[in-house]
Amino acid sequence: MTEFEEELETKQYSLKDTKLLKGFLPYIKPYLKHFIFILLLDIVVDTLFTVEPVVVSRLLNNLQQFSDGLMTQSEVLNSVILLMSIDASMMIVASLGAYLVNMGLKKIGSYIIRDFRNDMFKHVYSLSLSQLRDLPIGSYVTRITNDTQNLSSFFSDVLPQLLRAILTLLIILVTTFVMEGLYGFIFLSFLPVVFLLSYFFRKKAKKYYRMEKKSISKMNSFLSESFQGVKVTKTYNREEKKNQEFEVCNDRIYHSFLKSQDLFAIFYPMMYLLQMVCIIIILAFAVPKVALGVMLVGDLNMLYSYSTQFFSPIQTITQLLNNLQSIISSGERTQAIMDMKPEITSGEDSVNVPAFKGKIEFRNVSFAYEKDNYVLKDVSFIIKPGETAAFVGATGAGKSTIISLISRTYEVNAGQVLIDDIDIRDYSLTCLRRNVGVMLQDVFLFSGTIEENISLGDEKLTSKEIEDGAKEVGADTFITRLPKSYQEKVTERGENFSAGQRQLISFARTLVYKPSLVLLDEATANIDTETENIIQKSLERMRSIGTMVIVAHRLSTIKNANVIFVVSHGSIIESGTHQELLKQHGTYYNLYRLQNMENDAKLIKE
Ligand SMILES: Nc1ncnc2c1ncn2[C@@H]1O[C@H](COP(=O)(O)OP(=O)(O)O)[C@@H](O)[C@H]1O
Ligand SMILES: [Mg+2]
Repeated sequence: MTEFEEELETKQYSLKDTKLLKGFLPYIKPYLKHFIFILLLDIVVDTLFTVEPVVVSRLLNNLQQFSDGLMTQSEVLNSVILLMSIDASMMIVASLGAYLVNMGLKKIGSYIIRDFRNDMFKHVYSLSLSQLRDLPIGSYVTRITNDTQNLSSFFSDVLPQLLRAILTLLIILVTTFVMEGLYGFIFLSFLPVVFLLSYFFRKKAKKYYRMEKKSISKMNSFLSESFQGVKVTKTYNREEKKNQEFEVCNDRIYHSFLKSQDLFAIFYPMMYLLQMVCIIIILAFAVPKVALGVMLVGDLNMLYSYSTQFFSPIQTITQLLNNLQSIISSGERTQAIMDMKPEITSGEDSVNVPAFKGKIEFRNVSFAYEKDNYVLKDVSFIIKPGETAAFVGATGAGKSTIISLISRTYEVNAGQVLIDDIDIRDYSLTCLRRNVGVMLQDVFLFSGTIEENISLGDEKLTSKEIEDGAKEVGADTFITRLPKSYQEKVTERGENFSAGQRQLISFARTLVYKPSLVLLDEATANIDTETENIIQKSLERMRSIGTMVIVAHRLSTIKNANVIFVVSHGSIIESGTHQELLKQHGTYYNLYRLQNMENDAKLIKE
């Protein structure tokens, strides 16, 4: 678990937190009027449902008075017809209203969450790579899918049900007080008992809910990582190990779920018991009264109905408070992401230029991926416009990092990166990313066609432009040989293409945008000689585009570079042309000799 995650998990959320609501207000606003209207309608509906026993009790009273001879047949018939039609129309209106309320709330909940999810995804995408590493990828997935779903239930379920429960309680209390005085006190005296009991259980359950949530989020992280690494797992025969790990994960969820269920297995019977006690007390007072003729049967019926109805809203409220708790923690989780300020953004008054001349300068640049663990230390160099510069050095020296800093994928910790003498932080991100073409070491292909993978879905690019881009890097030779050519399907991650082919597609992807500056993290190590030749040729062609920065593993590919920098442990230790560096008899000279010996050995073998 990362530090950031730890901080989130240990945070205690409180119902009083208003910050959450503030973060959510903009999403409710567009639907506020509808929402309020529906809540008002809901109040009407609930009132109708709750006062229904009163109407029924009037009806029973009249029947009793008729049988006692206090009402005539025609009087009782008229009143029964009247009361029954009132009851029927109340129920029809209430049912129709309930339908509208349910529909409306579900819709509004979905709208709000749709908008929120869209923004959340956009926001996550605007974060820098180092920020994204604060949480495991699975955690973002859970937050964008589950937690937002949970949030939407606040609007569609929790809030209206809470309103309904409170309203029902109030109406029952007020009606009983007004119509039967004393009995209202009996209900009232049960209120604190039930609430306290529920509160106690809720507090206990909270712990298990949190445990369950945490375990689910752990499982999601585990799942996404295991599927990403499924090939490795299978190749190394680690399925058994993975299965065990999953079982542990799964057991954790199961245990926390069971614990909370155990709790409720005690809670609900206790509630029923209380309800029975209440009913018995009410009946103990009321039945003798009816027998003595001082209370009518209808009134008894109303009291009975209300004592069975009185407990469920209290339970609902405590249950909802539980849900609210989980909604609040979902809110915290999503808000924590929404609160992350994108680190890498366009500067104020950001500079926009159609193209770069191509001068690149590092001025005393230091950089660390992790706190104080500097990967680049006080690096300075200048690459002139139109030149080809190469970085060489051992694995882990910091070459790829230099490339990442030029495209502002990461932000420098100290010093400056300048393009055409302007700090890259002053360019708008769009301008920078459009003009700087980066070809990464590990190519990522998306599922879709080759054409889509070159254009990355940019509809402004025509098929001609896409094909020209592919031709420019020499990718068209292999693409046109495929049965469906540019429409050939790319499976997830591009597993149906060789490393070299993937590399060529990524070259084309970069070049269709006609960048004025090309950065290339070359991965020739796992490429066959034929592909290497194609790449070599396309590199030569690309040199005419503008400034080019190459990270080279095979020194033979960069002999012609205008300047070569030798990187070692995050510093530049040598620089110059191929010939100059050879003459120095330093690191470059040794590297070159080593590689040439390998090549000679290869030639002899062949
Ligand atoms: N995303 C990352 N997070 C943390 N450390 C990293 C990351 N990428 C690279 N490093 C570390 O930075 C150092 C330089 O890496 P890199 O620039 O990729 O080297 P090179 O490309 O020269 O092989 C290495 O020690 C590597 O472990
Ligand atoms: Mg590298």
